[in-house]
Amino acid sequence: MGAGIAEICALAGLDVVVCVTSPASAERGRARIVRSLDHALRKGKLTEQDRDGALERLSFTADLDALADRQIVIESVLEDEAVKVQVFRALDKVVDDQRAILATNTSATPIMKLGRATERAGHVVGTHFFNPAPVLPLVEIVPSLLTEEDTVTRIASFVTEKLGKQVVRSPDRAGFMVNALLIPYLLSAIRMLESGFASAEDIDSGMRLGCAHPMGPLRLVDMIGLDVINAVAESLHAEFREPHYSPPPLLLRMVDAGLLGKKTGRGFHEYAR
Ligand code: 3HC
Repeated sequence: MGAGIAEICALAGLDVVVCVTSPASAERGRARIVRSLDHALRKGKLTEQDRDGALERLSFTADLDALADRQIVIESVLEDEAVKVQVFRALDKVVDDQRAILATNTSATPIMKLGRATERAGHVVGTHFFNPAPVLPLVEIVPSLLTEEDTVTRIASFVTEKLGKQVVRSPDRAGFMVNALLIPYLLSAIRMLESGFASAEDIDSGMRLGCAHPMGPLRLVDMIGLDVINAVAESLHAEFREPHYSPPPLLLRMVDAGLLGKKTGRGFHEYAR
C-alpha cells in the first residue's frame, strides 16, 4: 500500500520521499508506481505532464535520515507491531519539526502503542487507507487517547483537501471501524470453504453476483494478503475475545505455507506473476 499512498501524494503535487528498506525494494516500488501512472495515462485520466511531474516529485531512499525535514510521515511497513514500534522510535529521533505529524497506515497495531514509542504522542495518528489506495476514496482517521485535536484537524484537512479522499473518524480499537465489520465476513467465507460448505468460486460468485460486491470475499482476502488478514484477525481476537474474530486453521496454515494471495501468486485463487 506504501506505493499507492506515495503515488496519490505525488499526484496531489506534494514533494514525496519514499523511505524503503533496500535499493531493491526502492526499484520495485518505483516500477509499481510507474506502471500505475502509465495505466492512468493510457486511460486518459492523466496527461504526460501529470505523470512526469508526479515522478519528478518522488524520490526513493533507504536512509531514514532523509525524512528529517518532513511535515507529514505516513508509515506503511510490514503489519508487525514490533517492527512498527521500532520505526516510530526511529522516526521520533529523525523528524526535526516537533509539530510534524507521524501517521500510520496500520490495520492492526493500536495507535496508542505507536504514540507511546515516541516523545510526541500528541502528533501520532492513524491514517488507514483501503486497498487499492489510488482507487478507494476512504481514509479512516484514528486518534489515540493522547492524539491532540489539532493533529486530527490538520491530518483530516490534508487527506480531504490535498489528497481528495473522504474521511471517517474511528476509535483506536482493534479493527477500527471498517475492519471490525469486514474481517468477520471474510473469516466466515474462509470457514465456509474450510468446512466444504461451498467452493471458492461459488462463494465469490455468490457475493459478487448476488450482492453486487465488486469482488468476492476470498478474492478480496487474496488481494489484501492472507498475512494481513491474519494479523488484523489476531488483533481483533486478542482485544475482544469473540470467536467470530478467531482466524480459522485454514488461514493459519496457508500463511505458514507462504500462500499469501496475489502478492505470492497463490492464495484461494491462482495469479499470473
Ligand atoms: N492501483 C491503481 N489502480 C487500480 C488498482 C491498483 N492496485 N486496481 C485497480 N485499479 C483501477 C483500474 O486501473 C481500473 O481503472 P480504470 O477503470 O481506469 O481502468 C479501476 O481501478 C477498476 O479496476 P478493474 O477494471 O481492473 O477491475 P474492477 O472494476 O474489478 O475493480 C477493484 C478492481 C478496484 C479492486 C474493485 O474490485 C474493488 O473495489 N474491490 C473491492 C476492494 C476492497 O474492498 N478493498 C478494501 C479492502 S480492506 C482494506 O484495504 C483495509 C485493510 O486494512 C485490510
